[in-house]
Amino acid sequence: MSTSSVTGDLDAWRALPALQQPDWDDPAEVRAVTAELAAQPPLVFAGECELLKGRLAEVTRGEAFVLQGGDCAETFAGSTADAVRNKLKTLLQMAVVLTYAASVPVVKIGRMAGQFAKPRSKPVETRGGVELPAYRGDAVNGFDFTEESRRNDPQRLLKAYHCSAVTLNLCRAFTKGGYADLRQVHAWNQDFVAQSPAGRRYEQVAGEIDRALTFMKACGANPDEFHGVEFYSSHEALLLEYERALTRIDSLSGRPYDVSAHFLWLGERTRQLDGAHVEFLRHIRNPIGVKLGPTTSADDALALIERLNPEGEPGRLTFITRMGAGKIRDALPPLIEKVHRSGAPIAWVCDPMHGNTFEAPSGHKTRRLDAVLDEVAGFFEVHRALGTHPGGIHIEFTGDDVTECVGGGRPIVEDDLHQRYETACDPRLNRGQSLDLAFMVAELYRETR
Ligand code: PEP
Ligand code: CO
Repeated sequence: MSTSSVTGDLDAWRALPALQQPDWDDPAEVRAVTAELAAQPPLVFAGECELLKGRLAEVTRGEAFVLQGGDCAETFAGSTADAVRNKLKTLLQMAVVLTYAASVPVVKIGRMAGQFAKPRSKPVETRGGVELPAYRGDAVNGFDFTEESRRNDPQRLLKAYHCSAVTLNLCRAFTKGGYADLRQVHAWNQDFVAQSPAGRRYEQVAGEIDRALTFMKACGANPDEFHGVEFYSSHEALLLEYERALTRIDSLSGRPYDVSAHFLWLGERTRQLDGAHVEFLRHIRNPIGVKLGPTTSADDALALIERLNPEGEPGRLTFITRMGAGKIRDALPPLIEKVHRSGAPIAWVCDPMHGNTFEAPSGHKTRRLDAVLDEVAGFFEVHRALGTHPGGIHIEFTGDDVTECVGGGRPIVEDDLHQRYETACDPRLNRGQSLDLAFMVAELYRETR
């Protein structure tokens, strides 16, 4: 295929309906911003995307497990060294628990370094009789409830790129520069261990890992092999102008990659078969995902496979199901059965967050850890019954001690929610709740094997 037809394909989405795109006031400013983005260096490389595709192919074969997570909405103000380190640390701790307790390789993907745009169920928000445009993520407008802040500003796309770059740079440094060394398992827990049941439980696992490492060293293994970890970035591919501007033709393969992140997914609200988002994702070669809610039919899933991975490339397509704890046991089996019968290689990942959101009496949007755990348990039950592979989890969490979801080993109740409710969008698990979840997933995984 010639380069010009490749780039033509990359713009085919422009002729189709694109949901959830911001109305920008000044098209000329958007053109100037996207031209500037198109001249920026890539954040990720095609070879890295292919490496991740290979890891996800292992997931489709039942040989590895995905741990994908981070904020619902990253913010510019939250792109600090401390916040990024805490998130990464929590992800590494969860991954260690899963790798050790479930004895499975864990593919670590941050919902990080680019998760700056949000789809909204309503285009406006009303507070005290005042109606303003909804917050669409820091890449589009501001969280503050004022007219000025809620104005869509294309310059924010550039800031989203730069915040993604600094975040990813820090993640790369932490994961390759010694911080993620398995011999540091205790160090990640230092500020945490005494305070919580999850921290104490983690400390036990870390002690066992220490002994295993000493044993391996004594046997002649090279401990430097544990120096770094593979870490990948991901976000929802929502703002098509941004994603298009960051799509490049790889000089080695001649194929297009969206270099804004290793992995891109389509949300439940923008996965229409004939819509612009599916059309755009069809043409990039990154590994991609699609969120599937409880109304998805098996034929919808097959049609998405036909559109997004017609050649059946293993690792190319991940389905991230978000059914709700009360629905997963009924809604998931028909999808898996039919897809499995078709022979299509799919990584099945469970998002136990987005089907379990409710409003507490205080008005806070929240989730119960019990419901999250129950959806994950349902996910494992369904896969066990069908003999298929529960391929991973996709969660919203933060490394900070927030009070946004209720429950956990050191329980948060509805009356606590106001104490540290800091999310810019959906409620996130805090560090203790995330570790509670990791321990439970590890147990379920072990039982399934
Ligand atoms: C999200 O992941 O934050 C989100 C909006 O999810 P979904 O598309 O599944 O509703
Ligand atoms: Co969310």
